[in-house]
Amino acid sequence: MERALALLAAGEVVAIPTETVYGLAGDATNGQAVARIFETKGRPHFNPLIAHVASMAMAETIAEFDPLSRRLAEAFWPGPLTLVLPHRAGSNIHPLVTAGLDTIALRMPRGFGSDLIAALGRPLAAPSANSSGKISGTTAEAVDADLGGRIKLVVDGGATQVGLESTIVKAEDGELRLLRPGGISAEEIEAVAGTKLLRNNDAGIEAPGMMLSHYAPGAAMRLNVSTLEPGEALLGFGPTRAAGAANAAAFLNLSETGDLREAASNLFSHMQALDRSGARTIAVEPVPYDGLGEAINDRLARAAAPRDS
Ligand code: TXA
Ligand code: MG
Repeated sequence: MERALALLAAGEVVAIPTETVYGLAGDATNGQAVARIFETKGRPHFNPLIAHVASMAMAETIAEFDPLSRRLAEAFWPGPLTLVLPHRAGSNIHPLVTAGLDTIALRMPRGFGSDLIAALGRPLAAPSANSSGKISGTTAEAVDADLGGRIKLVVDGGATQVGLESTIVKAEDGELRLLRPGGISAEEIEAVAGTKLLRNNDAGIEAPGMMLSHYAPGAAMRLNVSTLEPGEALLGFGPTRAAGAANAAAFLNLSETGDLREAASNLFSHMQALDRSGARTIAVEPVPYDGLGEAINDRLARAAAPRDS
């Protein structure tokens, strides 16, 4: 904590655990720190960052809360929910964080991240701690392997609990739009909001990071597989196996019992491990779409998308 605080106060970036995935954190009010985040990840500057806060009071200095967004914050913060809100005029957030938008994405993480923000007394900008387009790190080892040569400190908090990034929603005239499925299911949010989440996103790329190819392992990905091809590695789900599974080049199961929470927490580390096996293709058994399955299928589809898109 002390080493992280000293580096953050000096405008450096630090990789930290959150309950979702590891974050590459920098002082959100310091332009040099925010520029370092983009540079370290190789992230395009048009893709805005999430500002992380430690209290509702800190959040209110940054954004304007409508009643529905406030209700969601009260129900789910600290936790894996990010709210996109109107950016408050005169906030101390550096303009690079929002990439020129008049809205800002805010979240209050659980655990070490919140303690760090409270101790620093300033919000932290923190995208997932991975090179742009690659798989998000859920362990300190994975973060170190990807970014270790470019940053001075990775705070090791063990494997993250949720394993998927936060769910991003935006209130629009009393309605709620799902911008990114994530670690809190749509059903849980709908139960608190009392309204269905809007999903179709024809208004263009609303969460600019939601470009099609993302979370890309070195291997190709083949989804919803019922029969394995020779030489493929297999990412399983549940107790029953795809045909030909016995000949898989490598095999890992997201959840033997078919538990979606367990599957979410294993998803990125299992993809990375199968990628390291050297197989040219990772075949993935079907994962149901309910609950956290929506976010799991979203990440799998992006990992499988053509890499040039
Ligand atoms: O769980 C998480 O959310 C993790 C941990 C570290 O907190 N962070 C994370 O950050 O996933 P990142 O940068 O990988 O993803 C942030 C997403 C991007 O898709 C970005 O485009 C979107 O949030 N975003 C940021 N500001 C936005 C805004 N004003 N409007 C719409 N989308 C926004
Ligand atoms: Mg990311």
